[in-house]
Amino acid sequence: MERTLVLIKPDAIQRGLIGRIIGRFEEKGLKIVGLKFMKLGDQLLNEHYSHLLDKPFFPGTRSFMQSTPVIAICWEGLDSVETVRRLCGITKAREAAPGTIRGDLAMSVQANLVHASDSIETAAAEVKRFFDDSELFDYDSAATGTIYSQDELG
Ligand code: TYD
Repeated sequence: MERTLVLIKPDAIQRGLIGRIIGRFEEKGLKIVGLKFMKLGDQLLNEHYSHLLDKPFFPGTRSFMQSTPVIAICWEGLDSVETVRRLCGITKAREAAPGTIRGDLAMSVQANLVHASDSIETAAAEVKRFFDDSELFDYDSAATGTIYSQDELG
């Protein structure tokens, strides 16, 4: 099954929203295969946001993302990359659709609670960047057969 990376950002840590945000993905039926609390060093952050290094807002993004540790989670599920992106909502949180995490819980562009990988290729690279193989777990979830149909599970 597809795997994708989510970061729970410093505004969520500060606002006590960790449990609610993890709960949104759990309730949806996604499965945690890796989870850790970590500080983002300069090198990891620059690699992660390499597409933004030249942007005028990037120094602000960097200091925000380093202001507390973040939670990195690898979620697994059918079409999980697209599904997780849709659950998060668009970047500018105050315009994100109601029902999404950003749409329901945030107002800012920078402080938008979560990062989620934006394509299958990016997800593969980001999961590898944030997790060693030994930190990712294959296990049977009792719920899988209820969450999906047998056809979907193949
Ligand atoms: P981006 O990869 O464009 O969005 P997303 O997180 O939805 O994939 O941008 C990464 C982060 O950079 C974004 O979540 C918040 C920050 N950012 C700003 O602070 N200001 C901006 O104008 C943009 C576009 C992003």
